[in-house]
Amino acid sequence: MNRGPLIFLGVFLTFLAGWLLLVASPYYQFERVEPYQIEGTNEEYPRPLTGLAVQGMRVYQREGCVYCHSQQVRSEDFGTDIARGWGDRRSVPRDYLKQQPVLLGTSRTGPDLANIGVRQPDETWHHLHLYDPQITSPGSVMPPYRFLYIKRKIDGKRSPDALNLQGPYAPPDGYEIVPSDDAKALVAYLKQLKQDVPLEEANR
Ligand code: HEC
Repeated sequence: MNRGPLIFLGVFLTFLAGWLLLVASPYYQFERVEPYQIEGTNEEYPRPLTGLAVQGMRVYQREGCVYCHSQQVRSEDFGTDIARGWGDRRSVPRDYLKQQPVLLGTSRTGPDLANIGVRQPDETWHHLHLYDPQITSPGSVMPPYRFLYIKRKIDGKRSPDALNLQGPYAPPDGYEIVPSDDAKALVAYLKQLKQDVPLEEANR
Protein backbone atom coordinates (compact mmCIF):
# COMPACT_ATOMS: atom_id res chain seq x y z
CA MET A 1 0.00 0.00 0.00
CA ASN A 2 1.24 3.46 -0.84
CA ARG A 3 1.36 5.45 2.43
CA GLY A 4 2.84 8.54 0.74
CA PRO A 5 -0.31 10.69 0.79
CA LEU A 6 -0.98 9.78 4.44
CA ILE A 7 2.56 10.69 5.50
CA PHE A 8 2.31 13.92 3.52
CA LEU A 9 -0.99 14.77 5.22
CA GLY A 10 0.48 14.02 8.66
CA VAL A 11 3.51 16.25 8.05
CA PHE A 12 1.32 18.98 6.58
CA LEU A 13 -1.06 18.95 9.56
CA THR A 14 1.86 19.06 12.01
CA PHE A 15 3.31 22.14 10.31
CA LEU A 16 -0.14 23.70 10.01
CA ALA A 17 -0.76 23.26 13.75
CA GLY A 18 2.61 24.88 14.53
CA TRP A 19 1.91 27.79 12.20
CA LEU A 20 -1.58 28.34 13.63
CA LEU A 21 -0.34 28.31 17.23
CA LEU A 22 2.90 30.22 16.84
CA VAL A 23 2.21 32.63 13.98
CA ALA A 24 -1.49 33.08 13.23
CA SER A 25 -2.83 33.05 16.79
CA PRO A 26 -0.40 35.68 18.22
CA TYR A 27 -0.97 37.77 15.09
CA TYR A 28 -4.74 37.87 15.59
CA GLN A 29 -4.37 38.44 19.33
CA PHE A 30 -2.03 41.40 19.01
CA GLU A 31 -2.64 43.00 15.62
CA ARG A 32 -5.02 45.55 17.15
CA VAL A 33 -2.69 46.63 19.98
CA GLU A 34 -2.29 50.41 19.75
CA PRO A 35 -0.16 53.00 21.55
CA TYR A 36 -1.64 54.34 24.79
CA GLN A 37 -2.64 57.99 24.97
CA ILE A 38 -1.28 59.28 28.27
CA GLU A 39 -4.16 61.07 30.03
CA GLY A 40 -4.07 64.85 30.07
CA THR A 41 -1.20 65.03 27.56
CA ASN A 42 -0.55 64.72 23.84
CA GLU A 43 2.03 62.09 24.59
CA GLU A 44 1.74 58.51 23.47
CA TYR A 45 3.25 55.46 25.13
CA PRO A 46 5.45 53.68 24.15
CA ARG A 47 7.72 56.51 23.06
CA PRO A 48 9.95 55.73 20.10
CA LEU A 49 13.70 55.89 20.71
CA THR A 50 14.98 59.37 19.93
CA GLY A 51 18.31 60.97 19.05
CA LEU A 52 21.47 59.07 19.85
CA ALA A 53 19.52 56.21 21.42
CA VAL A 54 18.61 54.89 17.96
CA GLN A 55 22.29 54.30 17.22
CA GLY A 56 22.74 53.08 20.80
CA MET A 57 20.35 50.20 20.18
CA ARG A 58 22.61 49.05 17.32
CA VAL A 59 25.61 49.12 19.67
CA TYR A 60 23.63 47.08 22.24
CA GLN A 61 22.86 44.53 19.52
CA ARG A 62 26.37 44.48 18.11
CA GLU A 63 28.05 44.03 21.50
CA GLY A 64 25.78 41.13 22.46
CA CYS A 65 24.39 42.68 25.63
CA VAL A 66 21.25 40.63 24.91
CA TYR A 67 23.17 37.41 25.67
CA CYS A 68 23.23 38.34 29.36
CA HIS A 69 20.38 40.82 29.76
CA SER A 70 16.64 40.44 29.17
CA GLN A 71 14.21 43.32 28.67
CA GLN A 72 11.00 41.80 30.00
CA VAL A 73 9.55 42.01 33.49
CA ARG A 74 7.69 38.83 34.46
CA SER A 75 4.43 38.98 36.38
CA GLU A 76 4.39 38.29 40.11
CA ASP A 77 2.93 34.83 39.36
CA PHE A 78 6.02 33.81 37.39
CA GLY A 79 8.96 35.14 39.34
CA THR A 80 10.46 37.73 41.63
CA ASP A 81 11.19 40.41 38.98
CA ILE A 82 8.89 43.00 40.57
CA ALA A 83 10.12 42.21 44.10
CA ARG A 84 13.69 42.73 42.84
CA GLY A 85 12.76 46.20 41.64
CA TRP A 86 13.13 45.45 37.93
CA GLY A 87 9.75 47.11 37.24
CA ASP A 88 6.52 48.33 38.85
CA ARG A 89 4.40 46.07 36.67
CA ARG A 90 4.82 43.19 34.28
CA SER A 91 5.73 43.84 30.64
CA VAL A 92 2.93 43.55 28.06
CA PRO A 93 2.96 43.42 24.23
CA ARG A 94 2.15 47.14 24.03
CA ASP A 95 5.53 48.01 25.60
CA TYR A 96 7.28 46.76 22.46
CA LEU A 97 5.15 48.42 19.75
CA LYS A 98 7.85 50.87 18.65
CA GLN A 99 10.76 48.44 18.83
CA GLN A 100 12.31 46.84 15.79
CA PRO A 101 13.84 44.39 16.53
CA VAL A 102 12.52 43.57 20.00
CA LEU A 103 15.47 42.70 22.24
CA LEU A 104 13.56 40.58 24.77
CA GLY A 105 16.48 38.31 25.56
CA THR A 106 16.24 34.86 27.10
CA SER A 107 19.22 34.76 29.42
CA ARG A 108 19.72 36.63 32.67
CA THR A 109 23.33 36.47 33.70
CA GLY A 110 22.78 40.14 34.59
CA PRO A 111 19.68 42.01 35.77
CA ASP A 112 16.71 42.71 33.50
CA LEU A 113 17.12 46.08 31.74
CA ALA A 114 13.50 46.85 30.72
CA ASN A 115 13.52 49.71 33.26
CA ILE A 116 17.19 50.56 33.61
CA GLY A 117 16.44 54.16 32.51
CA VAL A 118 14.25 54.57 35.61
CA ARG A 119 16.53 52.63 37.96
CA GLN A 120 19.81 54.23 36.91
CA PRO A 121 19.46 57.60 35.18
CA ASP A 122 23.05 58.65 35.96
CA GLU A 123 25.24 58.83 32.83
CA THR A 124 28.46 59.00 34.81
CA TRP A 125 27.57 55.73 36.55
CA HIS A 126 26.89 54.01 33.21
CA HIS A 127 30.18 55.15 31.69
CA LEU A 128 32.23 53.99 34.68
CA HIS A 129 30.32 50.69 34.73
CA LEU A 130 30.82 50.05 31.00
CA TYR A 131 34.47 51.06 31.16
CA ASP A 132 34.98 48.52 33.91
CA PRO A 133 32.08 46.97 35.89
CA GLN A 134 34.48 46.38 38.81
CA ILE A 135 34.54 50.13 39.52
CA THR A 136 30.82 50.36 40.36
CA SER A 137 30.01 46.69 41.02
CA PRO A 138 33.01 44.83 42.50
CA GLY A 139 32.89 41.09 41.74
CA SER A 140 30.69 41.57 38.64
CA VAL A 141 31.06 38.97 35.88
CA MET A 142 30.11 41.53 33.23
CA PRO A 143 33.01 42.10 30.82
CA PRO A 144 34.59 45.55 30.56
CA TYR A 145 33.84 47.49 27.36
CA ARG A 146 36.99 49.62 27.40
CA PHE A 147 37.24 49.55 23.63
CA LEU A 148 34.22 51.88 23.59
CA TYR A 149 36.42 54.54 25.25
CA ILE A 150 39.28 56.59 23.86
CA LYS A 151 42.55 57.25 25.67
CA ARG A 152 44.05 60.53 24.51
CA LYS A 153 46.59 63.15 25.49
CA ILE A 154 45.08 66.09 27.34
CA ASP A 155 45.28 69.02 24.98
CA GLY A 156 45.39 72.10 27.20
CA LYS A 157 42.26 71.60 29.32
CA ARG A 158 40.73 68.28 30.45
CA SER A 159 37.60 67.45 28.44
CA PRO A 160 34.32 67.80 30.37
CA ASP A 161 33.41 64.29 29.09
CA ALA A 162 36.53 62.66 30.61
CA LEU A 163 35.85 59.79 33.02
CA ASN A 164 36.81 60.43 36.60
CA LEU A 165 38.96 57.31 37.03
CA GLN A 166 40.77 56.74 40.30
CA GLY A 167 43.56 54.51 41.60
CA PRO A 168 44.44 51.53 39.37
CA TYR A 169 41.97 52.69 36.71
CA ALA A 170 43.43 56.19 36.34
CA PRO A 171 45.13 56.91 32.98
CA PRO A 172 48.81 57.96 32.99
CA ASP A 173 49.57 61.59 33.81
CA GLY A 174 48.69 63.92 30.97
CA TYR A 175 46.12 61.48 29.49
CA GLU A 176 42.35 61.25 29.74
CA ILE A 177 39.71 58.62 28.91
CA VAL A 178 36.67 59.88 27.00
CA PRO A 179 33.60 58.01 25.72
CA SER A 180 33.50 57.26 21.98
CA ASP A 181 30.37 58.13 19.99
CA ASP A 182 29.28 54.50 20.40
CA ALA A 183 29.63 54.66 24.20
CA LYS A 184 27.60 57.89 24.33
CA ALA A 185 24.92 56.36 22.09
CA LEU A 186 24.76 53.17 24.17
CA VAL A 187 24.25 55.16 27.39
CA ALA A 188 21.59 57.32 25.68
CA TYR A 189 19.81 54.08 24.75
CA LEU A 190 20.01 52.62 28.28
CA LYS A 191 18.58 55.87 29.69
CA GLN A 192 15.54 55.59 27.40
CA LEU A 193 14.67 52.03 28.49
CA LYS A 194 11.56 52.67 30.60
CA GLN A 195 8.30 50.78 30.92
CA ASP A 196 7.04 53.44 33.30
CA VAL A 197 3.44 54.05 32.25
CA PRO A 198 0.81 51.99 34.10
CA LEU A 199 -1.20 49.96 31.57
CA GLU A 200 -4.49 48.42 32.49
CA GLU A 201 -3.81 45.11 30.70
CA ALA A 202 -0.72 44.58 32.90
CA ASN A 203 -3.04 43.98 35.89
CA ARG A 204 -5.00 41.21 34.22
C1 HEC B 1 28.62 38.01 30.49
C2 HEC B 1 27.34 38.60 30.79
C3 HEC B 1 27.12 40.09 30.55
C4 HEC B 1 27.23 40.79 29.38
C5 HEC B 1 27.69 40.28 28.01
C6 HEC B 1 26.78 42.12 29.67
N1 HEC B 1 26.41 42.22 30.98
FE1 HEC B 1 25.64 43.87 31.89
N2 HEC B 1 25.63 42.90 33.68
C7 HEC B 1 26.01 41.59 33.87
C8 HEC B 1 25.97 41.30 35.30
C9 HEC B 1 26.32 39.98 35.96
C10 HEC B 1 25.53 42.47 35.96
C11 HEC B 1 25.32 42.71 37.48
C12 HEC B 1 26.58 43.23 38.13
C13 HEC B 1 26.98 44.60 37.63
O1 HEC B 1 26.29 45.59 37.92
O2 HEC B 1 27.97 44.68 36.89
C14 HEC B 1 25.32 43.46 34.90
C15 HEC B 1 24.83 44.75 35.13
C16 HEC B 1 24.51 45.64 34.13
C17 HEC B 1 23.85 46.90 34.34
C18 HEC B 1 23.38 47.44 35.68
C19 HEC B 1 22.04 46.83 35.98
C20 HEC B 1 21.46 47.26 37.29
O3 HEC B 1 20.33 46.87 37.56
O4 HEC B 1 22.13 47.94 38.06
C21 HEC B 1 23.75 47.51 33.12
C22 HEC B 1 23.15 48.88 32.82
C23 HEC B 1 24.35 46.63 32.14
N3 HEC B 1 24.79 45.49 32.79
C24 HEC B 1 24.45 46.91 30.80
C25 HEC B 1 25.09 46.08 29.88
C26 HEC B 1 25.33 46.45 28.51
C27 HEC B 1 24.91 47.76 27.88
C28 HEC B 1 26.00 45.41 27.92
C29 HEC B 1 26.54 45.32 26.53
C30 HEC B 1 27.47 46.38 26.12
C31 HEC B 1 26.15 44.37 28.94
N4 HEC B 1 25.59 44.83 30.11
C32 HEC B 1 26.73 43.14 28.73
C33 HEC B 1 26.38 40.69 32.91
C34 HEC B 1 26.62 41.00 31.57
